Amino acid sequence: MTQNTGAFEALLQEDRTYPPPPDFAAHANIADPAVYEEANRDPQAFWARFAGELDWFKPWDTVLDWSNAPFAQWFVGGQLNVSYNCIDRHLNGPRKNKAAIIWEGEPGDWQVYTYRDLYREVCKFANGLKSLGVEKGDRVTIYLPMVPELPIAMLACARIGAPHSIVFGGFSAESLRDRIEDSQSKVMITADGGWRRGNIIPLKQNADASIEGDTPVENVVVVRRTAHADDMMQAGRDVWWHDLVANQPLTCEPEPMDSEDMLFMLYTSGTTGKPKGIVHTTGGYLTGTYATSKWIFDLKEDDVYWCTADIGWVTGHSYIVYGPLANGATSVMYEGSPDWPDRDRFWAIVEKYGCTICYTAPTAIRTFMRWGEEYPNRHDMSSLRLLGTVGEPINPEAWVWYWQHIGGGRCPVVDTWWQTETGAVMIAPLPGITTLKPGSATQAFPGIEAAILDEQGNEIGPGGGGYLVIRQPWPSMLRGIYGDPERFVQQYWSNYEGIYFTSDGAKLDEESYYWLLGRVDDVINVSAHRISTMEVESALVDNLKVAEAACIGRSHEVKGQAIVAFVTLKDQVGRSDAVIAELKQHVAGKIGPMARPDDIYFAAELPKTRSGKIMRRLLRDVAEGRALGDTTTLADPAVVEMLKEQYGDEE
Ligand code: PRX
Repeated sequence: MTQNTGAFEALLQEDRTYPPPPDFAAHANIADPAVYEEANRDPQAFWARFAGELDWFKPWDTVLDWSNAPFAQWFVGGQLNVSYNCIDRHLNGPRKNKAAIIWEGEPGDWQVYTYRDLYREVCKFANGLKSLGVEKGDRVTIYLPMVPELPIAMLACARIGAPHSIVFGGFSAESLRDRIEDSQSKVMITADGGWRRGNIIPLKQNADASIEGDTPVENVVVVRRTAHADDMMQAGRDVWWHDLVANQPLTCEPEPMDSEDMLFMLYTSGTTGKPKGIVHTTGGYLTGTYATSKWIFDLKEDDVYWCTADIGWVTGHSYIVYGPLANGATSVMYEGSPDWPDRDRFWAIVEKYGCTICYTAPTAIRTFMRWGEEYPNRHDMSSLRLLGTVGEPINPEAWVWYWQHIGGGRCPVVDTWWQTETGAVMIAPLPGITTLKPGSATQAFPGIEAAILDEQGNEIGPGGGGYLVIRQPWPSMLRGIYGDPERFVQQYWSNYEGIYFTSDGAKLDEESYYWLLGRVDDVINVSAHRISTMEVESALVDNLKVAEAACIGRSHEVKGQAIVAFVTLKDQVGRSDAVIAELKQHVAGKIGPMARPDDIYFAAELPKTRSGKIMRRLLRDVAEGRALGDTTTLADPAVVEMLKEQYGDEE
């Protein structure tokens, strides 16, 4: 079913198990497995209990309205404000002077924001946005590095009811332009630059290029971070963050939002070339991120919780900002690279702030593994008590290394499966209950009805594999694709009537543990970044030298997958290393450096079926140096044979 099936057979021989360490279980928030049965008996009551732990301005009348499926509504009639729930409600007790955000910049500068500080900063910026004419319902694009102004801007948007659309700082000007145009944002928030490996990422330059000519953006708010782009401010359009907030009042009433009002949109890659704006709403999203943060990360009052993701991706939205802050936790954020100035930077951060929880991606763990134990060994990491992973399947070796060398053999590792679309974690252990198996995300979260189906929709039992689906709606589910309800229905709900299709393959072992196998569509997962083959292909054919292109993900030891592109050149263009370099650069420029192909192979023709569909499966076989699969449906089998001869033995 997927290219990873072989790797999976190896996984199934994985028989190490890790029951919750007794010390951990004794103090875990959740230690009674009865929570699963209770939740599954009445999922709506289960979720309503969590929603009831949030502060509502007006109670809901109906927990779930699924009458217009697949357009769900949760906590219908209720009103609340996310910024109020993440900040204000913590101010009336001992949490008011607790660290909400501990931030460290790559050059080594750092800053702590208490909940009270955060309140002031968010209110000031919310007033600043209002002074620019931003009103409830207006979209705001945020293109920032990992600086404190990023969560402050998000919470300020939430406070006044303006949905944010965050664009990861690694995206190019052109990707940013597409997202601004699709969301019709009136304001953009950016910075003069951000630090990465000692270099400045020129965000303002990209931001300027993205709104050249016709644009919905009227104002750009600029954070001064690297102090190098002062001459780039455009009078009348651009305003410095510090000037905007300078004289703003310190309070700003939170806007009462309907539970189903949009909180944010976040663009992600699908099977087509055009990224889709995934829409999340207020009450359900906050309930989902609040509940999963509390139970999966076992959050306690004195935890120092660090999720190493970038807020530009959904992990940062849900598990740096909204979930932890709704719980009144202390959330650490770091601006830069893990190897700057040295390869022990993450562990220096753990030691410096006494982090108790660390949540990162398998690709990072594999990199650390490769660098060796000497780097974590330089630091006292005895504060850690729980570890997490997200973004891609984790191979058991990396899991065990993480357990041993980062967790010191005492910290449960929670492997969390979810997606931009699901808003919150769907499959993961509860660390006080679940016996862990390295490489398995274990069980669906209570109240989530996951299943594995075959092509026909039959449920696959223990020992089998197929397509991962979610049978029942859940509070933090996406509500749609911005401006494209048809694509929403078609993409997620048409494979199986009324059932959410994840596009992931999975297997169940004999004990009904889930083992994720990777995507079954044309999405590749490069270093836990989601990239569509179609996006890269359109970037390639956009270059005048290219006639046709097909991309695939090839297994990669550290990145999980690497992009390999097969291109046919236009007639007059000769094959050369210079062309390869140019094409790689072209893709990086069009999309962003994370989409740069590792390899570009020239092909006289691409292998196609008789109906003209490119057979990526065979290209994967070529790129991974495997025997070719079934070629009988090809229009011309010689095409792929030739490619195999040319490139097949490289691996
Ligand atoms: O293929 C799955 C993989 O990442 C995809 C979702 O990507 P994105 O929307 O960018 O969100 C990433 C962070 C939640 C999924 O379809 N994925 C995510 N977590 C895991 C995973 N694959 C295996 N194991 C995981 N824990």
